[in-house]
Amino acid sequence: MRMMGERKFLIGVLGSGKGSNFAVVADACRAGTAPAEVALVLSDVADAGILEQARQRGIQARFIPPGKFRTRLDEEAEQAYLEALRAARADLVVLAGFMRVLKQRFLNAFAGRIINIHPSLLPAFPGLEAWKQALAHGAKVTGCTVHFVDAGVDSGPIIGQQAVPVLDDDTPETLHQRIQAAEHELYPRCVAAIARGQIRVEGRRVVWGKT
Ligand code: GAR
Repeated sequence: MRMMGERKFLIGVLGSGKGSNFAVVADACRAGTAPAEVALVLSDVADAGILEQARQRGIQARFIPPGKFRTRLDEEAEQAYLEALRAARADLVVLAGFMRVLKQRFLNAFAGRIINIHPSLLPAFPGLEAWKQALAHGAKVTGCTVHFVDAGVDSGPIIGQQAVPVLDDDTPETLHQRIQAAEHELYPRCVAAIARGQIRVEGRRVVWGKT
């Protein structure tokens, strides 16, 4: 329970896509199921749906150009993202379909306070279009994972996972849709647990304490 006068737990969200995960996290905060508030949304894509979703909810939303690289932020961009997150006093950085790798300087600035959602049961199928990887591999079960971000690709300590069966007649689209439905349950639950101070990291293991 947050005491009177205590500062709200503030979240900065980074995304490159349509923003459905951002939307469920923001709505959980607004509904009070997650004791937090989304203070800021940043995107590396000027016309990303996530920016529109944020504006519709009255949340500050900014496009910050990523700079000269394709898969990461350049130094100037990194600085601009960090400044925006600091100015918004973000306690936690939530990656919601942010399609760039964060480098060490960024990770150090928010050490242990950056989380990501990935559309597979990690460590299976890291990287791009994980649902297509699962189909191509012939997996019978896949799902989604929320994890802390470290210097590797989709490799940090796992906070939570939700399984999704792969059906015989699945296409990449139908499978991705069911994974996203699972993501929309899992991400707000994990964010709420972190905001409540329930989550403890012990080496590679993340422990869910009692509320
Ligand atoms: C989500 O399915 C998320 O798992 C995936 O991008 C999608 C964003 O959707 N992220 C990755 O693949 C990162 N490796 P959204 O914009 O509707 O939240």
